[in-house]
Amino acid sequence: MEITNRRSFLKFGATAAGALVVSKQALAAAAPLCALTPQQDEGPFYPGESKFTVTNDLTRVEGHLQRAAGQVIYVKGRVVDQNCRPVVDANVEIWQACATGKYNNRMDPNPAAIDPNFRFWGEAFTDANGEYMFKTIVPGSYPADSGWIRPPHIHFRVAKIGYVELITQMYFKGNKYNDSDLILQGLPADQRDSVVVDFGPSDATLEPASLTGHFDITFRSLR
Ligand SMILES: [Fe+2]
Repeated sequence: MEITNRRSFLKFGATAAGALVVSKQALAAAAPLCALTPQQDEGPFYPGESKFTVTNDLTRVEGHLQRAAGQVIYVKGRVVDQNCRPVVDANVEIWQACATGKYNNRMDPNPAAIDPNFRFWGEAFTDANGEYMFKTIVPGSYPADSGWIRPPHIHFRVAKIGYVELITQMYFKGNKYNDSDLILQGLPADQRDSVVVDFGPSDATLEPASLTGHFDITFRSLR
């Protein structure tokens, strides 16, 4: 009897161990090779009155001699799916506040002055390598609620048929308001770094005194 029980135990143990292996394999198959960029709040200011012609340069408005105020930046990145495959022809939209922290949206209660020379919204399509680029400025921070200042951030929407639309926000490394931002800090700790970008001097092919940051994006393919 004791032997039978022991055999049963061993058999059960072997089955359980097998199940463990299978479930680990199943998990490995389901887990993305490239971690998905976290979804974040769309916010109330998309995209307001700024949706004009398609462009990836937000620093100039057609017909205006002066260009947008603020630190010029280039935001570059690569869009891939959960299997790390580059996504070609993905539609990447951004919208953001101008240097004063004001959106071009009548719903924005911020009393800060609006920059008439800033475009506020841009759109690009990823190239054959899944890469995109925008030229814009560092947005200002703005009050979101009593005691809550939103750090400078750029809103992103990434879409393509056959993929789960991604709406997220990109932040600037080292900004003093990052640590107290309810949206950024509301993300799981292991996902925060993926949406915080470190900007540094641009290379010589880009505008002098501009900064460049890389924001790579992963969104889910349904295929
Ligand atoms: Fe915002």
